[in-house]
Amino acid sequence: MRALSADYEALARTIASLTEDETDTIALMATMACEVHHSDDRFDWTGFYRVTEPGLLKIGPYQGGHGCLVIPFDRGVCGAAARTGEVQLVADVDAFPGHIACASSTRSELVLPVRNGAGEVIAVFDIDSDQPDAFTPADATGLTRILTSVFARQ
Ligand code: SME
Repeated sequence: MRALSADYEALARTIASLTEDETDTIALMATMACEVHHSDDRFDWTGFYRVTEPGLLKIGPYQGGHGCLVIPFDRGVCGAAARTGEVQLVADVDAFPGHIACASSTRSELVLPVRNGAGEVIAVFDIDSDQPDAFTPADATGLTRILTSVFARQ
């Protein structure tokens, strides 16, 4: 049975309080990765990949086991999110062409583009779950609202 969504209203309030007046990108990412990761048992890896040069993502702050360090835009679920600027809600990672398995236990994945105040994609926010079909559109909507409120100040 699919898990219910996290309480994104409460999570948004917590993150807003913790990051009030903060503008450092790494500090914002570290706080968001921590709070989101610990908010829901479905989340087994939670973190950011940053756009460090055109067409390239490098790992940022995360929670969970080792994550691969570098992802080109033409690879993986993260590359697809960065390349298209679209949410990637993947019910079964084994059915996603080119999925990069940082952990063999991952079954489903949600990757969201992260935009700055100018609307540029500066990173992607990646959540892996060991549960199949763990994510819902409500997760994407709730997390996108938080990402927008936190990183639109960049
Ligand atoms: N699964 C991701 C790679 C990052 S690890 O999950 C942390 C992808 O396919 O892009």
